[in-house]
Amino acid sequence: MDKNLDTIQPIFWRDNRLELLDQRRLPQEEIWLNYDDSDEVATAITEMVVRGAPAIGVTAAYAVVLAARSAWNNAAEQWPQAMVESLEKLAASRPTAVNLFWAIDRMTALYKTLPANESPEAALLEEAKAIHAEDIKANHAMGHLGSALIDADSTVLTHCNAGALATGGFGTALGVIRQGYTDGKINHVYADETRPWLQGSRLTAWELQKDNIPVTLQAEGAAASLMATGELDWIIVGADRISANGDVANKVGTYMLAILAKYHGVKMMVVAPTTTIDWQLQEGKDIPIEQRSASEVTTIQGQQIAPAGVAASNPAFDVTPAELIDAIVTEAGVILSPSLETMIEIKPADYVN
Ligand code: MRU
Repeated sequence: MDKNLDTIQPIFWRDNRLELLDQRRLPQEEIWLNYDDSDEVATAITEMVVRGAPAIGVTAAYAVVLAARSAWNNAAEQWPQAMVESLEKLAASRPTAVNLFWAIDRMTALYKTLPANESPEAALLEEAKAIHAEDIKANHAMGHLGSALIDADSTVLTHCNAGALATGGFGTALGVIRQGYTDGKINHVYADETRPWLQGSRLTAWELQKDNIPVTLQAEGAAASLMATGELDWIIVGADRISANGDVANKVGTYMLAILAKYHGVKMMVVAPTTTIDWQLQEGKDIPIEQRSASEVTTIQGQQIAPAGVAASNPAFDVTPAELIDAIVTEAGVILSPSLETMIEIKPADYVN
């Protein structure tokens, strides 16, 4: 069995700039794009060059370094004020993944302590690298915690891509799947193709195939009949934002899977670092859901599929109520039957709303 299941990383800081693997082109082409400019990184996040909540957070942290560099070069001691506009653009890049705002806030808290008469770049870069390393470490911890919940020889289904590509490395849901496969807990993975961006067929299938983990791709509409066969043990997904009561915003279609899972007695696991929890929101109904362009639904990879002019709705995420979730796995611990009461177990003691 291949034990080295940690080979893909989508984000690098190299030669004083940010490098992103262009996820829009995978799996046909592996193209790396270089960034020196924070505003261009914001556009890259909006346009899905990089996607997945933790990966967006790590990328935003490096973008803050780029914003600070250009503010220092252009405005010298006025750099803290000079970078505000870029940070606002970054924060507007995608609305649902709370990791974006968490990373900007953490970098902002640091830069506010730095002296105005020195370049902030080195200190901010160290912090961004720490955020990146912490994310990978959290994924490995969650991999072990999630794998421990799964019985030997299980079959699982995942939706969208919550893999190495969606994080600093290793993955959240796919981190559990990688670890579960290594531990002999998981034999087989079903991957939903995940319309409209096809993260399942383009990214998850690519990652699992690279790691020699048996994967079968299916249209998400096939999930109910798969569950009816009794073959499936767990659904394992990531999250973009989790509210204080354990409601989970994740790729649209996750809620549908959770309802089907309850009906068929399949267990539902959400794997996400604590950076994905928004303690300020009591319930999932308050999570902002990104509405993307209708053209992403009416076309497939640029080719028009639907009749010209037809209306199309394109919410990128949906919210699964906590009561449909068996386990939320974080690096700080596992919450079984999540609720306002049980989520407290992983709430930082010093958290102030
Ligand atoms: O629109 P995307 O591709 O950014 O959506 C990604 C997801 O929904 C993932 O499941 C989520 O961000 C968790 S990634 C570890």
